[in-house]
Amino acid sequence: MHNLAELPAPVWRDDLADEYAALAARLEPLVPCLEIPLHLPWIDAINKLKKQRGAVIMAHSYQTPEIFHGVADVTGDSLGLAKAAAGCDADLIVVCGVHFMAESAKILAPEKTVLIPDLEAGCSLASSITAADVRALKAQHPGVPVVSYANTSAAVKAESDAICTSANAVQVVEAMDSPRVIFLPDEFLGRYIARQTDVEIILWHGRCEVHEKFTAREVRHVREQFGSKVVAHPECSPEVLAEADFVGSTTAMGKWLAREKPARVAMVTECSMADNLKSQFPQTEFIKPCNLCPHMQRITLQNIYAALRDLKHAIEIPADVIAGARRALDRMLAVGRRETV
Ligand code: 13P
Ligand code: SF4
Repeated sequence: MHNLAELPAPVWRDDLADEYAALAARLEPLVPCLEIPLHLPWIDAINKLKKQRGAVIMAHSYQTPEIFHGVADVTGDSLGLAKAAAGCDADLIVVCGVHFMAESAKILAPEKTVLIPDLEAGCSLASSITAADVRALKAQHPGVPVVSYANTSAAVKAESDAICTSANAVQVVEAMDSPRVIFLPDEFLGRYIARQTDVEIILWHGRCEVHEKFTAREVRHVREQFGSKVVAHPECSPEVLAEADFVGSTTAMGKWLAREKPARVAMVTECSMADNLKSQFPQTEFIKPCNLCPHMQRITLQNIYAALRDLKHAIEIPADVIAGARRALDRMLAVGRRETV
């Protein structure tokens, strides 16, 4: 493939209106309509380049609708994307999400090239703890197993006994078969787990900068004003979770909506998630107390295009770190993924 670096920026062509009529109709309720003609040339160029490269694009549920609906081949939560990376045929994967998600894909598919369009797409939970912090915790609590949330760096995963997601955290903690477990880095998720198990949880002080912003007062206000059901992610504070009709992981929230079919629901989580669920549940009115993840928002159609064009930024993880992190991830996969929250 020649001269990809010289590809001109995509511009509007009249034939895009017909070719992407169905996508435009889907995006219409989700993004300002003036933006759709700006997005379509990039979506078209990315989809063509993706085919040329034989690449697969994976997008987390917190990605913007033009990415989620326009260019993603696979969508889902962080673990779903990592598993899809391991199972897909393509040798080139572009992860539209934050850095730890691209690392998880690389850990489960080390032979593949995994690209992230912006290396600065981080996560306040992942950056709240280092591998050295985990070693210090282990020295402080000898013999106590460490369960780390998926929102951690590969180096932290490699120091852990097992990984969990918000969908299986209680189950993984209990599978450690220990009266005490160090749970890191999310303090609120740790407190949520502690309320559901007899295992003593030793906490770390990490917080999701998006979910910690929600307040119980705001949630009560939304419920009173809109008469809606409330679903909340367990990264929210205990006071917010106490106000919710349902507390669950990214995937569990979607399943709850399918089961309960509420007329109105307030999604107390990253607000792109409500946009992305809207087209799946047209009978439900979504109220969005809107907190966007600034790290997720770093991924744009423009940098996805550049990632495919220039094959950047490839995730590189030392082999020993991959091996350690893989061991901890495999421990979680062995526990299974029955949804407990
Ligand atoms: P999931 O593991 O549910 O995809 O969530 C990741 C995340 O960043 C939540 O804020
Ligand atoms: Fe991290 Fe919170 Fe953003 Fe999720 S929403 S990636 S936990 S900062």
